Amino acid sequence: MNLSSALERTKRDFLVTNQYLDNLVNFFEKEAREGLQKDSERSLPMLPSFVTQIPNGSEKGLFLAADLGGSNFRVCSVHLNGDRSHELKQMKWRVPNETMKGSAAKFWTYLAKCIQDFLTEHHPEQSSFELDGNSYLKMGFTFSFPIRQTALNSGTLIRWTKGYAIEDAVGTDVCESLQTAVRALNLPVDVVAIVNDTVGCLLARSYETGSSAQTLVGCILGTGTNAAYSEKISRIPKLATYDSVPKSAKVMVVNTEWGSFDNNVKFLPNTEYDQALDLMTPNPRFHMFEKRVSGMFLGEILRRVLESFLKKGTIFTSAKTSLRKDADILTPWSIDTSFLSYSAADGSSDLTGIQQELTKIGISDSSLEERQAVKEICHVVALRSARLVAGIIAGLLKMTKAFEKFEVVDIGMDGAIIEFYPHYEEMVREALRSLRFVGANEKRITIGISRDGSGIGAALCAAMAG
Ligand code: BGC
Repeated sequence: MNLSSALERTKRDFLVTNQYLDNLVNFFEKEAREGLQKDSERSLPMLPSFVTQIPNGSEKGLFLAADLGGSNFRVCSVHLNGDRSHELKQMKWRVPNETMKGSAAKFWTYLAKCIQDFLTEHHPEQSSFELDGNSYLKMGFTFSFPIRQTALNSGTLIRWTKGYAIEDAVGTDVCESLQTAVRALNLPVDVVAIVNDTVGCLLARSYETGSSAQTLVGCILGTGTNAAYSEKISRIPKLATYDSVPKSAKVMVVNTEWGSFDNNVKFLPNTEYDQALDLMTPNPRFHMFEKRVSGMFLGEILRRVLESFLKKGTIFTSAKTSLRKDADILTPWSIDTSFLSYSAADGSSDLTGIQQELTKIGISDSSLEERQAVKEICHVVALRSARLVAGIIAGLLKMTKAFEKFEVVDIGMDGAIIEFYPHYEEMVREALRSLRFVGANEKRITIGISRDGSGIGAALCAAMAG
């Protein structure tokens, strides 16, 4: 097959039509409602967060936040000033590969030691072992993996995602495990709340906007993807089987874990590249939506397309003979999602930016036609991600009757994809406009990047834990 026919086929493979998206909205709504009814292993988790208050900007005090995401562990102290503003101090570590896949004991000790280093550096007054319990700092723990919570300060890990694989941590209480490791080092810290990053994002955005706008959804588009939203307790039937829901509570933030939307792939696009990629992940057959959308996967999808073109002799014909066996283009997980961002940002007539990126993955020479093809492939992979996200956001807005209830529908977002992929938000918005359910209402949606969402959100949760 020649390059232009292969390219046309790939464009078709990644196409997400308007009609498909209209159906996706309804399919998502159905899965989400089922998830609110009961827990089951393969359905959309829709996890209760036990957060029953939405901040209004007046919260005050000094709190600690620990934040474990896809690649980094961050510890912050957040001073909430009570006027929608805050001050934040932070330190960040890249979690070593062996810690991401080793034993639970080593993992929790590693996190506790980072917290110790942070206190020594930024709050020496709080690193004293002599402090009595009343002077302990309250910590909110943002844990960006699916957990089944039973209270604000208790939740067991359902499964790892995003490259973590610490088997003996699955099924254990993550809040208690961190607290035990922190106590073992004698740190004056009480871990009072555990919170998903999307819940943190929703709370942080609500704190920042204050009572001026109601934030309905907190959404992460980074290494992984997910969203949380605020739901009426009366619409969460499965909560009846959980203890510890405050009697006075009317709403609860629900962590959808939409990365696990359509795990059975009844509906999601399923190219040969998606199927092969799934088999290479630590959690095959789970988080199937995430594997088509988020930062951890887009680079690898691109690599698989390029590798397949290369092996069939469709692209990089002149570079092929000198290609090293260990070149990144031939090595799973070696193309970073930033490749797609650079490609989208390259507006030069001869696409020199793309050539620089190609050189890094082992292709030192390419024709303009080949670089144009690379640009198009990057575009269709990213566009599919943005359009799927739009469909699922619309599903959430439909389920919550957002356009009927609110004049302005505010969404907080965070993560490298939304922040760094050029025009990603515009691609999402365009898809929203094309949906029957949204159409002109797209103008009523505000999207705000909530940069320190996980840190501030965890601090707010610690504040609410009382
Ligand atoms: C996790 C979610 C998290 C999301 C974004 C997913 O892999 O399962 O809990 O919110 O990544 O970080």
